[in-house]
Amino acid sequence: MFGKKTETTLSPGLSAPPKPASVAPQHHVPVAGAAVPDLKVAAKPTGMAVEPAKPSADQRQKSESYYDIKSTIFNALIDAIDLTQLGQLDREAARDEIRDIVNEIISLKDVVMSIAEQEELLEDICNDVLGYGPLEPLLARDDIADIMVNGAGAVFIEVDGKMQKTGVRFRDNSQLLNICQRIVSQVGRRVDEASPICDARLPDGSRVNVIAPPLAIDGCALTIRKFKKDRLRLADLTKFKSITPEGAIILEIVGRVRCNVLISGGTGSGKTTLLNCLTGAVDHDERIITCEDAAELQLQQPHVVRLETRPPNLEGEGAITMRDLVKNCLRMRPERIIVGEVRGPEAFDLLQAMNTGHDGSMGTLHANSPREAISRLESMITMGGFSLPSKTIKEMIVGSIDVIVQASRLRDGSRKITHITEVVGMEGDVIITQDLFIYDIVGEDANGKIIGEHRSTGIARPHFWDRARYYNEERRLADALEKAEQRNKPMN
Ligand SMILES: Nc1ncnc2c1ncn2[C@@H]1O[C@H](COP(=O)(O)OP(=O)(O)OP(=O)(O)O)[C@@H](O)[C@H]1O
Ligand SMILES: [Mg+2]
Repeated sequence: MFGKKTETTLSPGLSAPPKPASVAPQHHVPVAGAAVPDLKVAAKPTGMAVEPAKPSADQRQKSESYYDIKSTIFNALIDAIDLTQLGQLDREAARDEIRDIVNEIISLKDVVMSIAEQEELLEDICNDVLGYGPLEPLLARDDIADIMVNGAGAVFIEVDGKMQKTGVRFRDNSQLLNICQRIVSQVGRRVDEASPICDARLPDGSRVNVIAPPLAIDGCALTIRKFKKDRLRLADLTKFKSITPEGAIILEIVGRVRCNVLISGGTGSGKTTLLNCLTGAVDHDERIITCEDAAELQLQQPHVVRLETRPPNLEGEGAITMRDLVKNCLRMRPERIIVGEVRGPEAFDLLQAMNTGHDGSMGTLHANSPREAISRLESMITMGGFSLPSKTIKEMIVGSIDVIVQASRLRDGSRKITHITEVVGMEGDVIITQDLFIYDIVGEDANGKIIGEHRSTGIARPHFWDRARYYNEERRLADALEKAEQRNKPMN
C-alpha cells in the first residue's frame, strides 16, 4: 500500500490527543502485534446504531462515543500512514488506501460496528484527512445557500431561505482552525492570532470568510456562501415567484438596452444572483469588466475581464481596493463595468463611468429600499472625501443611474424582487423616482408563508423607452407592461 508506512503499527498511545491531519507522523511503528487496548466496551454505544429512515448524516447528531471511536481510529491511522505519500495519490486512490488501513485498524482493535457505521466512519475520516473534514457533506449539497460555523460545536446552514442548526460538529476548536487554515492557504493567505480576519474562496468558487480567536470568542467563525453550480436565471426567479414573467422581461430589457442599474438589497437577499441574471441579457459583442471582492459573478459572455481586489499583506501593504480597480477599468476600454458590491468611495468612480459613455454599467449595494439606496450612494460619496455640494452629488446620481432593482429576503425565507424603480430627475433638491413594479404584501397564511403579489404601477412609458426603441425592444417592452397591467386588473 503506497500511502502506508513501510513498517507500521498502530500506536499504542490511543488516548493521545488527536494530531492535526496536516502533520506528518514522526516515527514508524510495526503494525502487527501492537498492543491495542480493548475498545469493545466503548465500541458498543447505543447511539452508534444507524437506523433506517433517519435524517441525512449531516443532520444527525452523532453520539459522544462515535467521536471517541473516530478519534482513536483517526490517531491510529495518522500513526500508520505517510501523509506526504498519501498527498501524492489522487483522491480515489487515497480513499482506497485509507479504507484498507481503517478496516485493518477496526479489525485489530476489535471494534464492533455495522457495515453502515463503518462506511460513515470511513467517510468522516477521509474527509478529515483529504478534505474539509465535517464540512464535506455540507459542501457536497447544492441546496445549501450558506454554511455558518460558530466554533467547533455549532454549525448552521441556510436552506430555502431558512436557517437550520445541523448535527455537524468539529472534534475541537483546533480541528476547526486547521480546516480554516487549509481553506485560506489555497489562496495564499494565513489565519492566526496575528491576522485573524481572512476572506478566501474555495476551489468551487464558494465565498469564504474566517474570523479566528481572539476576535471570535468561541472559536473560529467560518462563513461560506455556497457557489451554485447551476446559476439561477431569470426563468428560475420567475418559477420561484420572485418576480412575474412580465417583470422578468422588463429586467431582461433593462439589462440589454444598457440602462445603468443599481441592485439594492439586504445581506443574502439575492443581489449577486440578480446581477448575474441581468448580465445574462447583455449582447455577446460587448466588452465587460467585472470588479469584485471575491469573484462570484458567472458571466456567460465571451469578452469578459474579471478583476478582484486584494487585502493588505501582513505588513499592511499591497492592498488593492475596489476604487483602484474601478479607476483602472477606465483605462481598459470597457463597454460595461460591473461592480460586485459598491460600499465606499468607488461609488464616485462608478457613477462617473456610467456618466461618461459606459452605459449599461451595474453594481449592487446594501440598502432596504430604492430610496435608501440613493441616500447610501450619496453618503458613500460624501464620506469618500469628495468635497462636492450635496446638490451636485444628487445631480450626478440622477445623471448616472437609470434603474434601481430592489431584492429582499422576506421573513418566511422567500426572496422577492420588491421594486423595479426608475430614477427620473430632480425637483429642487429632491431626487424623483418612479416605481414600475412593486411587491405588495397582503398577509400571511396559517404556515407563516407571506401572501403578496407583484403589481405593475401602470406606467405605460418608462423613462428608458427611447433606449428600448434604439435597441428595437420597444414592442416587447410595451407588451410586457400591458400584460403586467392586465394581471393587476382582477385585483381592482
Ligand atoms: N430569487 C431567489 N430565489 C431563491 N433563492 C435565491 C434567489 N436569489 C438568490 N437566491 C439564493 O440565495 C443565496 C444568496 O444569494 P446572493 O449571493 O445573490 O445574495 P447577496 O444579496 O448577493 O448576498 P451578500 O449580501 O452576502 O453578497 C444564494 O444561495 C442564491 O442562490
Ligand atoms: Mg452578493
